[in-house]
Amino acid sequence: MHKSHRRLQIVRLARLLSLPLMLMSLPAQAAAPSLQVLHWWTSAGERHAANVLAARLADEGITWQDAAIPGGAGLGAGKVLRSRVLAGNAPDATQIIGVSIGEWAELGLLLELDGVATAGNWNKALFPTVRDLVRHRGHVVAAPLGIHRINTLFYNSKLFERLNIAPPATWPDFEKAARQLRAAGVAPLVQSSEPWQVATLFENLLLATGGPEYYRELFVRQSPQAAADPRLAQALQRLRTTKGWMLNPADEQPWTEAVKRFSRGEAAMFVMGDWAKAELNELGQAIDADFSCVPLPGTDNYHLYSVDTLAMFVNDYTHQSAQEKLAKAVMSPLAQQQYSAAKGSVPVRRDANPATMDSCARSSWRGFARGAAAQAPSLVHRMAADEESRDAIIAEVHRFYMDDGVMAAETQRRLASLLRTLNLRSHKQQGSQHATQDTDRR
Ligand code: GAL
Repeated sequence: MHKSHRRLQIVRLARLLSLPLMLMSLPAQAAAPSLQVLHWWTSAGERHAANVLAARLADEGITWQDAAIPGGAGLGAGKVLRSRVLAGNAPDATQIIGVSIGEWAELGLLLELDGVATAGNWNKALFPTVRDLVRHRGHVVAAPLGIHRINTLFYNSKLFERLNIAPPATWPDFEKAARQLRAAGVAPLVQSSEPWQVATLFENLLLATGGPEYYRELFVRQSPQAAADPRLAQALQRLRTTKGWMLNPADEQPWTEAVKRFSRGEAAMFVMGDWAKAELNELGQAIDADFSCVPLPGTDNYHLYSVDTLAMFVNDYTHQSAQEKLAKAVMSPLAQQQYSAAKGSVPVRRDANPATMDSCARSSWRGFARGAAAQAPSLVHRMAADEESRDAIIAEVHRFYMDDGVMAAETQRRLASLLRTLNLRSHKQQGSQHATQDTDRR
């Protein structure tokens, strides 16, 4: 981006945030072979994956300066990022994902990585959905790391074997497994009541009842009519049914705690993105021996995805060369393979070899490779909608979950009116159009 254009963008940002321009001045530091990276990978598996990236960056002679902000799904990291940018202290690189990438790029704050992408032939190397996700107005503005599958049901394989229970593939199977487990005195499901974790279970149930097309109608296009649909009522009812299967449904705990409880056999099943697999591995649990995973019942043909990405802040361009090296490094086949093995995700590269993956990753990679019609963008993980819409929808789902007195029809009415309000705001419409493009284009 030309420097005068960049200056104009800063003036625009200052106006948008009602800040005096002097507060937005950018730090002028000498180029140094180190990059500060802001992210929210603080669990053992996440740390392991960040270390892989740091090692690949070190191969380029650049030090990874870690700025990790705790908080599942990036709640804290998002806030810290906003305040740091306002204070004129943006990190060099940061984990921003999904629709948020476009929001930051629109302000002109992200480094364009077209040179790196062209040299590395990203267009051909990336799955089309990932390629579109890292582009904004025709420019590549983020480097993709890995693809997570959110529709993952973990189950305790030893327990299932001992009780002779088959891994559930359909909703009736799921109900049957829950009945058998309860009869054996085992809690069927572990679940935290943290809003994003409840909404994770819910978006899974919605995909199972409605399929990807209806899912997009509700969460990406945010159609108020879709909120009146009986498929939403059914997903809400099922959320309530699963609440009855849970060990302490009102307990609010980090996802890492829920993983621990599952690993100790306190409950037999767990619905979570496949980063939980990495965490189970770190706890000494082996896939297919101690636990296994299947797509959430009813979503076998679909892939509910979240793609992790690193974007680079332009700042004063002094770190551009190191930032480009980071983007190049994370896309190398070796980094892609090592990172995903540590993180529980699958590579974003189409030339990855599924034969080297564990059973859970192989199923995810093949499912994602089926293309856009089989894919659904995770609302919780910012793949479907902007931050405000996401938060507002999650709050409604959470309210329904916490209070058994709230009927599905009432939540449907409230969601319809919420979507109507969101539709009225023009910047929201831009946001959801952007998300539609990201996920629908092939
Ligand atoms: C997601 C992110 C994952 C994982 C998860 C739990 O948003 O994509 O990498 O960290 O949150 O915090």
